[in-house]
Amino acid sequence: MHIPRLLINFKAYMESSGDRAVEISKSAERIWREMGVLIGVSPNIVDLRLISSSVEIPVFAQHVDPIPAGAYTGHVPPILVKEAGARGSLLNHSEKQIPLRHIAESINMMRDLNLISIVCSPTPSESAAVAALLPDAIAVEPPELIGSGIPVSKAKPEVILNSLRSVKAINSAIPLLCGAGISSGDDVKAALELGSYGVLVASAVTKSPDPQRKIRELAEPIASFTRA
Ligand code: G3P
Repeated sequence: MHIPRLLINFKAYMESSGDRAVEISKSAERIWREMGVLIGVSPNIVDLRLISSSVEIPVFAQHVDPIPAGAYTGHVPPILVKEAGARGSLLNHSEKQIPLRHIAESINMMRDLNLISIVCSPTPSESAAVAALLPDAIAVEPPELIGSGIPVSKAKPEVILNSLRSVKAINSAIPLLCGAGISSGDDVKAALELGSYGVLVASAVTKSPDPQRKIRELAEPIASFTRA
């Protein structure tokens, strides 16, 4: 199971939808080939099939509902996400929170479908609650820093350290990513030094005038770290 060390969330930004979503995804794919850093992209659901058919890097939905295919207007069944070519999904992002029991059901459905579940959590204690559900990875993101340009890895290192501690106490095999405000290569380096497996990032890439250059900058410390 390959969990990306750099996961780019396209959210619902105009700057990362449609043709621009394809361009950013292809840039991420280029950097993956160039540097060997596993990069994933998480486009808006409206672009999921387009992106999955445009690149070989792993593509993630931003959300799924714990339901089968069928008469569920407006819902996102995991099996249709798989059908569209995605490798997995984010769950419980701060901007799309769901009850713990839905997280549990979604993880189980995704496991049966061989889809990767990356569950977001806002705090160390929620990271622990989520770890007990055995997702494939957890991404801790303090909501107040999301989109702020103030990196969690520098402004709130204790959130990462305490999440690592609480997740490890439950299952040491679950990788922990962190996100919120990650803007530079140096922020990524700080996250890795604290023990993060990788980072989840959005605006630094989607709003960049040169997304490919930004992706390369964010991937560089991961390449050096994983080589060392
Ligand atoms: O999912 C990533 C995200 O919530 C962080 O957003 O814009 O602070 O990188 P941003």
